Amino acid sequence: YLIGIDIGTSGTKTVLFDTDGNTVVSSTVEYPLYQPHNGWAEQDPADWWNATVQTLSDCVSKSGVNPADIKGIGLSGQMHGLVMLDEHNEVIRKSIIWCDQRTGKEVEEITAKVGREKMIEITANPAITGFTAAKILWVRNNEPENYAKCRHILLPKDYIRFMLTGEYATEVSDASGMQLLDVPGRCWSDELLGLLDIDKSLLAKVYESPEVTGKVTAQVAAMTGLREGTIVVGGAGDNAAAAVGTGIVEDGKAFTTIGTSGVVFAHTSDISIDPKGRVHTFCCAVPGCWHIMGVTQGAGLSLKWFRDNFCQEEIAQAEKEGVDPYYIMDNMAAKVPVGSNRLLYLPYLMGERTPHLDTDCRGVFFGLSAIHQKADLIRAVLEGVSYSLRDCIEIIREMGTEIDDMMACGGGGTSPLWRSMLADLFNCNVSTVNSKEGPALGVAILAGVGAGIYPSVEEGCRRVIKKNKTQAPTAENIDKYEAFYRLYVKLYPALK
Ligand code: XUL
Repeated sequence: YLIGIDIGTSGTKTVLFDTDGNTVVSSTVEYPLYQPHNGWAEQDPADWWNATVQTLSDCVSKSGVNPADIKGIGLSGQMHGLVMLDEHNEVIRKSIIWCDQRTGKEVEEITAKVGREKMIEITANPAITGFTAAKILWVRNNEPENYAKCRHILLPKDYIRFMLTGEYATEVSDASGMQLLDVPGRCWSDELLGLLDIDKSLLAKVYESPEVTGKVTAQVAAMTGLREGTIVVGGAGDNAAAAVGTGIVEDGKAFTTIGTSGVVFAHTSDISIDPKGRVHTFCCAVPGCWHIMGVTQGAGLSLKWFRDNFCQEEIAQAEKEGVDPYYIMDNMAAKVPVGSNRLLYLPYLMGERTPHLDTDCRGVFFGLSAIHQKADLIRAVLEGVSYSLRDCIEIIREMGTEIDDMMACGGGGTSPLWRSMLADLFNCNVSTVNSKEGPALGVAILAGVGAGIYPSVEEGCRRVIKKNKTQAPTAENIDKYEAFYRLYVKLYPALK
């Protein structure tokens, strides 16, 4: 057996798999997102840890498996979040997480100190508000007393690793999103650390994703029922982990995920960088390989926002019928024609990365008319997120990366309507795989490589991942969507 832990934004999910990738037990605990100001986003690392302990304990106790038969653990999680520990390893302040947009000044500071071109040369990306380096500088500029106390800087899943094993470690895929890593060279950049005056001793040791980084301590074993000494491998940032969990480990393969954020991710065995910085280039979980990825900040977040604020009736109905409210919303949207009766939605609730790199833009419903009903708005949200993901694929294709195999995963990937929109807008087949556990399965496979069960990441994927449903594009919808996408593309510059 193998375990994958995914420290997500809405909750932590821990899954116990057998070595063929079948789910034995899956346990999720949710926690809050704090938004003290417009555009700020924080979480409490104690919530992640409590959720990890509870879900791990659930997996061990509910499965009834002998803990000695659990051969390894992999960690996945939301990328870019800043966790700072003091000399007693106590968390200094809440984590400033990936979608926080407060660091506009620090991005300017980084670009002025390093230079945009050098930044792209070293980290493969221009400085970005969401990435960790800007958050570190924000704390230094705005909370110098906290910065002075800081002895260790960790990413969300690497904080959980520290709590499980006592080791300060990270791995190349997640470290790529800190903007302190030499992404072509897969190691911390001394040059960058020097220019930004950040002490290297604050940073964790960098591993490749399937490498063993530590072992479960006796104390954690007593809290969770795990066996002391169970290995914990590097794991991966949630997107690189989802890539492994959907078999995207070779050129030509890509996936789209709709979680809180939305991502189009393509594997590349040679490093490929967008000189305009509209998509990210990071190390991936396959040793020696990279990936390009476009990000929509407010993907599932848009639908969740709409559900929580405007769908109380649907939530009540779902409770009565014992179904997910999203299922009811999906059915409502499916009855509305392509184009949502001429209503467009820009999903920029938390600013946007691909293609605009604009932290200050915000969401828009465009074309609202008295004929519109709630179902039109729901469909417009689904379509707007899909148009934004189409923006991502346009750039990836422009960079010369051919995609002939697209998988869908994440919460949004379970919606047949959303998958059909993607197939029509991407004009390619969109498939799902046999497991819906994307990131958790991905890091469980990495744990299997670390434990010597699979000889390589690629081999692990071949053994575990099978293609499931394939959604082909519908000829008559392609042109209709294309017309609305062309209008969508015009809106951002017109409103800016
Ligand atoms: C990727 C990113 C998001 C988070 C969300 O750059 O910021 O996908 O990892 O979990």
